[in-house]
Amino acid sequence: MKMPNLNEARIRNKSEVRYYDADIIKNPSLFQNKKYYLKTYGCQMNVHDSELIRALLENVGFTETDKMNNADLIILNTCAIRENAHDKVFGFLGRCKHIKKTINPNLVIALCGCMAQEPTVCEEIQSKYKYIDLVFGTHNIHELPRLLLNKMNKTDFEVESIEGDVVEGLEYKRDSKVQAWVNIMYGCDKFCTYCIVPYTRGKQRSRTSEKILEECKKLKEDGYKEVTLLGQNVNAYGKDLSQEISFAELLKRVAELGIERVRFVTSHPWDFTDEMIDVIAKYDNIMPYIHLPLQSGSSRILKLMGRRYTKEEYLDLYDKIKAKVKNAAITTDIIVGFPGETEEDFKETLEVVERCKFDGAFTFIFSKRVGTPAEKLPDDTSLEEKEERLHRLNELVNKYSLEHNQEYVGKTVKVLLTDVSEKDANQLAGYTETMKLVNVKADKSCMNTICDVKITEAKSFSLNGEVD
Ligand code: 5AD
Ligand code: SF4
Repeated sequence: MKMPNLNEARIRNKSEVRYYDADIIKNPSLFQNKKYYLKTYGCQMNVHDSELIRALLENVGFTETDKMNNADLIILNTCAIRENAHDKVFGFLGRCKHIKKTINPNLVIALCGCMAQEPTVCEEIQSKYKYIDLVFGTHNIHELPRLLLNKMNKTDFEVESIEGDVVEGLEYKRDSKVQAWVNIMYGCDKFCTYCIVPYTRGKQRSRTSEKILEECKKLKEDGYKEVTLLGQNVNAYGKDLSQEISFAELLKRVAELGIERVRFVTSHPWDFTDEMIDVIAKYDNIMPYIHLPLQSGSSRILKLMGRRYTKEEYLDLYDKIKAKVKNAAITTDIIVGFPGETEEDFKETLEVVERCKFDGAFTFIFSKRVGTPAEKLPDDTSLEEKEERLHRLNELVNKYSLEHNQEYVGKTVKVLLTDVSEKDANQLAGYTETMKLVNVKADKSCMNTICDVKITEAKSFSLNGEVD
């Protein structure tokens, strides 16, 4: 049993990162006829971790079910970024408890992901939620089959607060046949003062470019049309290794493999180099879409957030990208109500939004996370005031999103169709090169292909179109 510890999670450079191949158990008779139900919350990193969990479970005989009542194992892959995720997860766990009580007393309930890395959450589970059988952390996913085999009658915790290893030789059961996530690095060393990620995901550790390129090449050979390079802060790629190429060079080499669409998330404005902009501009198969979190438009607040750039530096970078990358779409993340944010600070955020006219923005009210430096900052703005700011911000953000979407009406654009539309089961859905969601009147045979789509209508958050 191992419990998480924030003080240990805060440590950096304690020891060298270990690189090793996972010792994956492959024996389908171990859990033959057993079913698992997996629920994923949070970011792309979690979605991709769930693809790993699926492969690990299916290697030892599990099959997936979409009905909780039929499951022998329920796993919740959780997110810790904001407090409200906590309530959702514990609500869901209540439903699991009910199933265990009324339908299947042998049900195994497991919790993993970023919440599992929080000491307060583990303590709460230990004292109050004894029906949870297994808790494993973001560093321990590859050990899941072994943990299930070892599972005892009481809750087993396997959450290490290490800086983290780089485990290779992992297989994923990917959600899509054409769109794939590829981790290029794990963890984060930026320690923005509001953020829990450096504690839950550990130290920044880059995979070697050799392994990344190998994985991308294999994906291309297997018919994948889109690869998204994944990291908390991709432009810091390689900086933790003494002899590794830069992110710009990695992006270039991935693009040169000839994959039809190459994407990357997330970039930090702080180490976004000119070389990166040039590579994005040069290669047609690097998608002209950049997610560039602003967080605040006030340099004073940015400093308190530990973001390492000022409003002016952000705007310079923004202008440079727009000037060099043809038709670049830029989206952002913004936090309102950071401790000490005044109406003037907030107005600066609105001004930056007006100036940049972002294609879209994910907006959040500041959420206090235990153990982060911002937890201790004095905060005298009421929640009501923060909600009102969020509302004003969203009105502006939505206005520009709609304006951008309207520019597409009448145009024909390329869309990779990967899903059945959520709006209409007879339609397909997918994303443009600039990451606009489009619902498309198209034959089912267009699924998993890149189609020319004529845009017929624009909404704030999606487009409608038909195959041209
Ligand atoms: N409160 C509110 N929003 C947060 N984010 C990260 N931590 C917090 C927090 N404590 C937001 C940031 C980040 C996005 C993924 O979530 O905007 O870019
Ligand atoms: Fe969190 Fe900042 Fe790292 Fe992003 S860069 S994961 S916001 S600490």
